[in-house]
Amino acid sequence: MAEEEVKLIDVYKFYGSYQALRGITYSIPRGIFQCVVGPSGSGKTTLLHIIGGIDRPTKGEVWVAGVRLNDLNDDQLAEFRNKNVGFVFQMFYLIPRMTVLENVELPLILRGVPKPKRREAAIEALRLAGLDRADYYNKKPTQLSGGEQQRVAIARAIVTRPRLLLADEPTGNLDSATAKVVMNTFVKLKRELGITVVMVTHNMELLSYCDRYVRIRDGQIVEEAISA
Ligand SMILES: Nc1ncnc2c1ncn2[C@@H]1O[C@H](COP(=O)(O)OP(=O)(O)OP(=O)(O)O)[C@@H](O)[C@H]1O
Ligand SMILES: [Mg+2]
Repeated sequence: MAEEEVKLIDVYKFYGSYQALRGITYSIPRGIFQCVVGPSGSGKTTLLHIIGGIDRPTKGEVWVAGVRLNDLNDDQLAEFRNKNVGFVFQMFYLIPRMTVLENVELPLILRGVPKPKRREAAIEALRLAGLDRADYYNKKPTQLSGGEQQRVAIARAIVTRPRLLLADEPTGNLDSATAKVVMNTFVKLKRELGITVVMVTHNMELLSYCDRYVRIRDGQIVEEAISA
């Protein structure tokens, strides 16, 4: 059996009487680039948040890295998330008054990592994210293009060396050429770090970068495929 990084067993999520996820059973092997596609409102973000321990299922089991997240209390879940999961979003969420390096170092500042060590880690994360030009280090996010900002956000997400990288519409604000650069960054991270990447997208053109994809509609899986 392939090593499973993520295993969902009959996962449901209710918001009041609304059923956002309805019986999702799916496994993601370790070290692959997995895409999740589906129309707006189909439950993609909800699913990603449950995998990443931001949210909990109403029903069903969630296993990540061999840990049954259902068994963790809120503090343990937060700790698990901080240690194992990196997040990338459509809106980047960089801090405008901080430099590129400071933005990438932020998760390490919050962990009390001393400055020389965090600087070194930030520079390496920027290199892995494809932004290793020193003249970028002291720029502010507003001085960068959208694609560059997203690569800074990716560097920030991997600076703690998570085993799982979750990306929710990371190319939603980018043109198609820049989106491809970001896709190649994920492919490279998967290869170089052995990290498992799970990306939500509407954009069918990006599926060729993933190893596999799953399509959801109305909170249920309607298609599973290995990418060509
Ligand atoms: N906190 C919440 N409270 C109530 N309903 C919610 C909440 N979060 C999501 N929903 C509902 O659950 C459904 C799935 O939402 P979700 O955000 O997972 O969709 P999505 O597939 O990510 O959509 P999009 O492509 O537009 O981002 C939607 O109908 C949404 O309105
Ligand atoms: Mg969404």
